Amino acid sequence: MTEDLTVTRMGYGAMQLAGPYVFGPPADRNAAVSILREAVALGITHIDTADAYGPHITNQIIKEALHPYPDSLHIVTKVGSVRDAEGGWPPARAPHQLRQAVHDNLKNLGLDTLDVVNLRVGGLQGPTPGSIAEPFTVLAQLQREGLIKHLGLSNVNAEQIAEAQSIAPIVCVQNFYNLAHRGDDDLIDSLAAQGIAYVPFFPLGGFSPLQSDKLRSVATRLNTTPMAVALAWLLQRSPNILLIPGTSSVAHLRENISGATLTLSEDDLTNLNSIVS
Ligand SMILES: NC(=O)c1ccc[n+]([C@@H]2O[C@H](COP(=O)([O-])OP(=O)(O)OC[C@H]3O[C@@H](n4cnc5c(N)ncnc54)[C@H](OP(=O)(O)O)[C@@H]3O)[C@@H](O)[C@H]2O)c1
Repeated sequence: MTEDLTVTRMGYGAMQLAGPYVFGPPADRNAAVSILREAVALGITHIDTADAYGPHITNQIIKEALHPYPDSLHIVTKVGSVRDAEGGWPPARAPHQLRQAVHDNLKNLGLDTLDVVNLRVGGLQGPTPGSIAEPFTVLAQLQREGLIKHLGLSNVNAEQIAEAQSIAPIVCVQNFYNLAHRGDDDLIDSLAAQGIAYVPFFPLGGFSPLQSDKLRSVATRLNTTPMAVALAWLLQRSPNILLIPGTSSVAHLRENISGATLTLSEDDLTNLNSIVS
């Protein structure tokens, strides 16, 4: 992402480690611990999380599984929304809420400094337009205080990214994007030109994994799975894309990592690109 922040392009998204609907504890905490340890054992150096997952529980499981963290491992977290009693994700971007969220992440992850904090702005379906100067300035202040090394943004549009960059540098943008949901194509290219990482969430389709005959036929021809092809497509889409697929299964984790080794031909890419045209 930047000079002091080198990560594997294949990372791991920890959201699926909490209970159903990312709320409460997982059915099998030991299994959640095992998958994190397996991800790191397989060489992954980028874990995406948020203290809102659980809430708090996913970060506590990461700490239980991996603390003290290897120097190579970078944990990227998000602030800007909390959970309500019904499991909703209300925004929480007032200065005191952001400060509290950073301290909660530090405590639950067992860290003195967070490697990367994304300000999460919009909802799952897309950005919510409007100024983000006030909350981003709060994070820039927390960065100056030494609690955060690098800043990023999530669920944002191009105007919000430009506004944030006028306040402090960003190293990554995390938005909804995958083979079948390509609203950020132009944004990805412009971030690539600036050397900023783009980290698609829902890379496999999220709660409803991608389904497409074209995807299946490419996977069959390459003797692999549709999910591996979907991830390989993202890696070939642009060099600034970093992956954080989520899974609660070690078998799926291995399958997803194998996707990073696939090379798709021009014909495969043309076929896959036609899924959205
Ligand atoms: N910034 C944001 O607002 C935001 C929003 C959502 C997510 N995120 C981040 O993005 C990460 C990725 O998103 P996500 O986990 O929701 O979605 P995802 O990676 O697109 O898909 C996860 C789903 O795919 C399934 N899956 C994973 N690998 C599979 C495989 N090889 N074969 C079949 N099914 C497979 C998982 O089920 P199994 O458990 O059964 O494998 C799970 O249901 C999250 O972990 C989180 O860190 C950020």
